[in-house]
Amino acid sequence: MKKTKKHIAVFASGGGSNARRIIEHFAGSDEADVALVVSNKADAGVLNIAKEYGIPTLIIQRKAFYETENILDDLREYHIDFIALAGFLWLVPAYLVAAYPDKMVNIHPALLPQYGGKGMYGHFVHEAVKAANETESGITIHYVNTRYDEGSYIFQAKVGLSPEDTPEIIAQKVLALEHRYFPKVIEQLVCHSE
Ligand code: GRF
Repeated sequence: MKKTKKHIAVFASGGGSNARRIIEHFAGSDEADVALVVSNKADAGVLNIAKEYGIPTLIIQRKAFYETENILDDLREYHIDFIALAGFLWLVPAYLVAAYPDKMVNIHPALLPQYGGKGMYGHFVHEAVKAANETESGITIHYVNTRYDEGSYIFQAKVGLSPEDTPEIIAQKVLALEHRYFPKVIEQLVCHSE
């Protein structure tokens, strides 16, 4: 019996390089697709990437996102089965976590539980890793709950660091891991698990 196609929403606040890889990973798939890109920033680069691929976009406003559950109607309208946070900087409200139990994941550019939590995103993470003279860093893909970076872990990958690596080099090494693994982990969760 042919499975119905699963529809993924990607939430992002920034440039969207992860979103692009996820979109490309599922392009041509009959099992799943990225059906919606959501952003909290009207000028986020990720919105241009969505438009490049003809994917609908949704800009969310803080008041509506936290004081109403209207976004659930939008997600239903696009038949969204799964949500991937790819550089989405807002805390996810409890009603949204509850609506997508074990169907919403986030990628964090460090080996949680270290270097996580409120305010630890982007260059702040890599600067802290550098300051601690870590010999490795990596990524953590985890389920989302109502607290920053505290959902159960799904996948981690590591990369070695050299003493001369700058935070920017660390960021590049980690981003390469994100691009390599995030789409594959999403596929495993969306297409190969009940
Ligand atoms: C990545 O570093 C990711 O780990 C973090 O936000 C960044 C997203 O980058 N959650 P991009 O917008 O996908 O290029």
